Amino acid sequence: MSENKRAAKLEIDGKTYDLPIFSPTAGPDVVDIRKLYGTAGVFTYDPGFTSTASCDSTITFIDGDKGELLHRGYPIDQLAEKSHFLEVCYLLLYGELPSPAELEDFESRVTNHTMLHEQMVYFFRGFRRDAHPMAIMVGVVGAMSAFYHDSTDISDEWQREVASIRLIAKMPTIAAWAYKYSIGQPFVYPRNDLDYASNFLRMCFAVPAEDYEVNPILSRAMDRIFTLHADHEQNASTSTVRLASSSGANPFACIAAGIACLWGPAHGGANQACLEMLREIGTPDRIPEFIARAKDKDDPFRLMGFGHRVYKNFDPRAKVMKQSADEVLELLGVENNPTLQVAKELEKQALADDYFTDKKLFPNVDFYSGIILEAMGFPTSMFTPVFAVSRTIGWISQWKEMISDPQMKIGRPRQLYQGETLRDYVDIEKR
Ligand code: SDX
Repeated sequence: MSENKRAAKLEIDGKTYDLPIFSPTAGPDVVDIRKLYGTAGVFTYDPGFTSTASCDSTITFIDGDKGELLHRGYPIDQLAEKSHFLEVCYLLLYGELPSPAELEDFESRVTNHTMLHEQMVYFFRGFRRDAHPMAIMVGVVGAMSAFYHDSTDISDEWQREVASIRLIAKMPTIAAWAYKYSIGQPFVYPRNDLDYASNFLRMCFAVPAEDYEVNPILSRAMDRIFTLHADHEQNASTSTVRLASSSGANPFACIAAGIACLWGPAHGGANQACLEMLREIGTPDRIPEFIARAKDKDDPFRLMGFGHRVYKNFDPRAKVMKQSADEVLELLGVENNPTLQVAKELEKQALADDYFTDKKLFPNVDFYSGIILEAMGFPTSMFTPVFAVSRTIGWISQWKEMISDPQMKIGRPRQLYQGETLRDYVDIEKR
C-alpha cells in the first residue's frame, strides 16, 4: 500500500489528530488508526468489521458494487471458464499462473498426499454414525496436528509448504470419508489416476461392489464449485483462520477453526440452510408466504441463499454457478425435481420484488451450489463440507501470507465496555 501523504483529520474535544491515508491498488482508501489509541486515547468501534480493513493482502479483491471478484488480478468468470481448481490453488498460493511444468509438479505433489495416515480411520470410528460431517471435519482436521508432527512448526518455511499441500490434498478424502461413515458404507481410497474433482466424486459415490465411472459433466461442475468457492477476501472463516494463526497455533488447528466458523448458516452453512428452506417451502404456491416472512422485520426468517455482506450487486460466482446448475439439471433430467422447481420460482419472484431488488438482495453463490449438489445426489449435510474442501486453499493462502509477514503480531481487538464499573464484593449474608 502506498502512503500518499494525505491525512484524515480527527478532532476530539478541540484537539486534532492527523491519521495517514493509504491508497490500495484497488478499492477504497484506508485510514491508518494504528496510533489512534496511543495518541488520542480512544478506540474505534466497528462490530462486524463492516468498515475495517484487518490486514493488507494481495490475494483476492472484491468490488461489491460492480459484482467483481479477482484472484491475484484474474476475474473469477475467466478462471471458472478457462482454468481448473488445482491451477487456481497454485495461483492463490504462489501468486502467478503456473507454467506447464510447475502445474504438473504441483498436481503431482497434491495427488501424492491424498491418503490419510491409516491410524486416522479409527478416529472416524469414534463418532456416532449420525454425526454431522462438519463436526467430523472439525475433529479430524484438528487431529491432523496429532499425526503430522513434521509439518506443524510454522516458523519453518518447508514445514509450512508441506502442511499446505497436505491440507489441500487430504481435505477431499476427509470430507468423503465423513460422508461414507454417515451412511455406513466403507471408505473409498483416493486414486492417483483421477483429477481432484473426479477423485472426490468417486470417494463419495463409489462402492466396492461395482466399478464407478465419473461423469465428465459432473466432475467439471464439481471442479467449478471448488473453483468458485476457493477464496473470498477476509470473510468470517478466513478472518477466524487469521486470528487463530496470529497466536502461532499450528496450521491444522487453525484450519479446523475456519471449518467451525464456516459451518454457520449465515456463512458457509447457507447452502444447506437454503435447500432445507426450499424443502420447507415445498411447493411454488407457498413462496409468497415465505417472501412475506423474509420481509417482516419482526420475523428473524431470512431467505437463505440471498444477500451478501459485500456484494450489493449480483454475486459474480452465482452467475457462473447458475450456468453449471442449468447444465447439471439438464444432464440429470431433474429439472422437474419439486425442490428445484421451487428454487427457480423463488428466484423469479424474489428478483421481481422491490424489497429484494431495492436492498440488492440477489441469489448468492450458495443458492445455486446447493441446487447442483442436491442434483448430484449429495445430502444437504454434505453441502458445507464441499464448501470447506474448496475454501481450504483460501484459508491456507491467507494463512501463509500472514505468517510470512515479518510485521505479523497477535490479533487482539478491544471493546466498548458497557458493564458495571468497580464495586466491592457483597457477602452472601448481606444480599
Ligand atoms: C457466504 O463474507 C463472504 O464473503 C461470505 C461468502 C464467502 O464466499 O466466504 O460469500 C459465503 O457466506 C455467502 C452468504 C451466505 N449466507 C446466506 O445466504 C444467508 C442469508 N443471507 C443473510 O443472512 C445476509 O444476507 C448476510 C448474512 C449474507 C449478509 O447480512 P447483512 O450484511 O446484515 O446484510 P445487509 O446488511 O446487506 O442487509 C441489508 C438489509 C437488512 O434489512 P434492514 O435492516 O436494512 O431493514 O437486508 C436484509 C437485512 O435484514 N436482509 C435480508 C437478507 N439478507 C439481508 N432479508 C431477507 N433475506 C435475506 N437473505
